[in-house]
Amino acid sequence: MKILVTGGLGFIGSHTVVELQNEGFEVVVIDNLSNSSEDVLKGIEAITGKKPLFEKLDLREKSAVQDFFKKHADVNGVIHFAASKAVGESVGNPLLYYENNINALVYILQELEKKQEANFIFSSSCTVYGQAETMPINEDSAVQPAMSPYGNTKQIGEEIITDVAKVSGINAILLRYFNPIGAHPSVEIGELPIGVPQNLVPFITQTGIGLRKELMVYGNDYPTPDGTCIRDYIHVVDLAKAHVVALQRLLNKKNQDKVETFNLGTGVGSSVLEVINAFEKVSGQKLAYQIVDRREGDVTLAYADTTKANEVLGWKTQSTLEQAMESAWKWEQKIRS
Ligand code: WQD
Repeated sequence: MKILVTGGLGFIGSHTVVELQNEGFEVVVIDNLSNSSEDVLKGIEAITGKKPLFEKLDLREKSAVQDFFKKHADVNGVIHFAASKAVGESVGNPLLYYENNINALVYILQELEKKQEANFIFSSSCTVYGQAETMPINEDSAVQPAMSPYGNTKQIGEEIITDVAKVSGINAILLRYFNPIGAHPSVEIGELPIGVPQNLVPFITQTGIGLRKELMVYGNDYPTPDGTCIRDYIHVVDLAKAHVVALQRLLNKKNQDKVETFNLGTGVGSSVLEVINAFEKVSGQKLAYQIVDRREGDVTLAYADTTKANEVLGWKTQSTLEQAMESAWKWEQKIRS
């Protein structure tokens, strides 16, 4: 079985390639290297002993996408990660996000709809829920108006996939991630943020290693037990495994609808201060931080109701926040050594 993983040299993509290879799938990766490096291929090979096929290509070039699917007509499934994903950047540069995240998706779907049958896994995000009314958040929670062009591209992407699946042989699963963190326990692959990290955990580990002076905690006046925002931090390896389970669901025709949606989280909410405490515990060192103003666009609370993923998809997370933080810290130490 040959699986295409777009964005397969990225953070979640690379961890998913490893899990696919562990399950015996042949993997072909497309990546334009705009937010990753070909060295990641070596990391994947170091873990699985197999180097995936790799094609450097920009999915915004329609002809390149068409050529790829002519060459790899035997692809049995597609897991689509390739997208720009920085919330803040998307506000300042919306067209980059609409072109990269929407056009690329359309070009891939145009190739898949030519097939009798196609299996498609889409990388979506809990961002689509905005500040959900009730906690924990389940898949029936209302999709709220996006707070950023990035979030909007995920909502639009889900709608496009749903519309196309109705009139084609495409079967799709939309995976709404909560907050992916950590790194592969082998420390051969992990998160490689470019520039100043926007996300909490890489900023914490870079502060811990001395790359950043201190962490700015964006507000401690939220209506939460310790005043800081609460999120559902999921180990990236657990998240990667969910993609393999979802793909196998489609390949084995176990899906109950043409498009299914699953929230992927631990079901446990952790505050910023609790994440800092987890870091201090696993690293044995104090973290320098200060409380500053709230960050525009942050929601107070977001953690998943994992019932559907556990009972229907048949997947659940195995790692704790501390284990995920420990893997992130080990990775930071490795790449700075
Ligand atoms: C988590 C918490 C911040 C940095 C975003 C996207 C989401 C997904 C994951 C792509 C918040 C606080 C953060 C810092 C801080 N990305 N924080 N100081 O915003 O929940 O989700 O990344 O799919 O779609 O929206 O993640 O890690 O940026 O923030 O205090 O330097 O940490 O305020 O409460 P977020 P995050």
